[in-house]
Amino acid sequence: MTEGFDMQALTRRIDERKATVAVIGLGYVGLPLVLAFHDAGFAVLGFDTDPEKVRKLDAGESYIRHIGSDEIGRLAASRRFEATTDPARLGGADAILICVPTPLTRYREPDLSYVEGTARALAEHLRAGQIVILESTTYPGTTDEVLKPILESSGLVCGRDVLVAYSPEREDPGNAVYNTTRIPKVVGGDGEAARDVACRLYDAITSGGTVQVSSAATAEAVKLTENIFRAVNIALVNELKVVYDKMGIDVWEVIDAAKTKPFGFMPFYPGPGLGGHCIPIDPFYLTWKAREFETPTRFVELAGEINSAMPAHVVQRLAEALNDRFAKGLKGAKVLMMGMAYKKDVDDIRESPALKLMALLGERGAEVSYYDPFIPVIRTGREHAELSGRHSVAWDEVLAGRHDAAFIVTDHSAVDYAALVAASPLVVDTRNATRAVTKHRERIVRA
Ligand SMILES: NC(=O)c1ccc[n+]([C@@H]2O[C@H](COP(=O)([O-])OP(=O)(O)OC[C@H]3O[C@@H](n4cnc5c(N)ncnc54)[C@H](O)[C@@H]3O)[C@@H](O)[C@H]2O)c1
Repeated sequence: MTEGFDMQALTRRIDERKATVAVIGLGYVGLPLVLAFHDAGFAVLGFDTDPEKVRKLDAGESYIRHIGSDEIGRLAASRRFEATTDPARLGGADAILICVPTPLTRYREPDLSYVEGTARALAEHLRAGQIVILESTTYPGTTDEVLKPILESSGLVCGRDVLVAYSPEREDPGNAVYNTTRIPKVVGGDGEAARDVACRLYDAITSGGTVQVSSAATAEAVKLTENIFRAVNIALVNELKVVYDKMGIDVWEVIDAAKTKPFGFMPFYPGPGLGGHCIPIDPFYLTWKAREFETPTRFVELAGEINSAMPAHVVQRLAEALNDRFAKGLKGAKVLMMGMAYKKDVDDIRESPALKLMALLGERGAEVSYYDPFIPVIRTGREHAELSGRHSVAWDEVLAGRHDAAFIVTDHSAVDYAALVAASPLVVDTRNATRAVTKHRERIVRA
């Protein structure tokens, strides 16, 4: 570290809560971080390119279901919080956390355009003495090979004038036990000074502690490893589901019994396909980067293959059930999909397998409606734009039982599954949501 950077001054500002923390990208990851730093006593600047989010934060309105408007109201009323769309304001912050999307392109390759765009905007306002931390999930090497060069186009030198680190966000939206402040924070820096200052900052918000690793690339690999671990294990139980089903064995019963083993087993559950902004996407960040090293990632790709075959598999199970029970095909059948969100009790539809299922059912001529208390209307992005604007039916319509089959895709806790089964001639359940229903069990088919 040279004269370009007074590390002690920044550390002191952090310790005394005099540092201003800027969070770029105020979505599912960024907004909880804003709250955490604000609650810890810091002045927080929220920056997003979406003016609607900034307007809502100013008005004290929440746009994420599991973050209450009372919390956002507290932020809006606070003198220590401000939301902005003006990148010039970033120059005034001491620490800048980047939480922008890292999706895939239509060719299933990493799309770093948001990270690059952010870095370019930041480079224009960067000043000596700041620390920049990337939190978006990405492949090993992004901080060093993509973020740093763009920041250095400002003329400032990383490690001398500004510090750069990577710390993956491990947020699990809707998890009531582990929120941003309880989950240990893994931190890797571009040099030890960056890592130490980043740890100091996160120590202020997490009771879970910080976990130092030797480089930014290692921290990037940690995040991918965690999500690939999930993707691979979900693929395994999906495969087991198909084979056990043919043997007349209930995979859910198997998992429930297996998980009583106190060591060496961790339960994962089958489903209609992967969803959300992480598990279906992140493994491809690694497989893409691995090609640069001419190293195959067969295991990871096989998991992707099995998981992406699940939507077609469960639709086929629904078709067979309609055929066997009512001598009916999917064409013209009234199918009520239960749940559109990618997982239970969240209002997030990104990468939800429900979108794929709705499209598949439509292609096969089914008349599809859906019920989801958290997704009153479908707003899609690049994928399945043709489904945008469709509305959830009301619960009364579910109970009216005008459908041939209910198709449980997301197992929201608030749904009365006994009432659903009572109102439905057939229930095809991809989540074992009906496990506690005792009446009319003959109407239920697990898929
Ligand atoms: N959602 C999760 O559960 C989760 C968990 C762990 C990690 N992550 C990772 O965190 C990152 C963010 O995910 P998210 O779910 O919060 O996404 P999100 O879409 O909810 O939020 C991203 C926000 O960034 C804003 N944005 C886009 N481009 C911008 C720019 N150039 N400048 C400023 N703001 C910009 C968007 O308007 C949006 O508000 C991704 O890399 C994701 O993989 C997400």
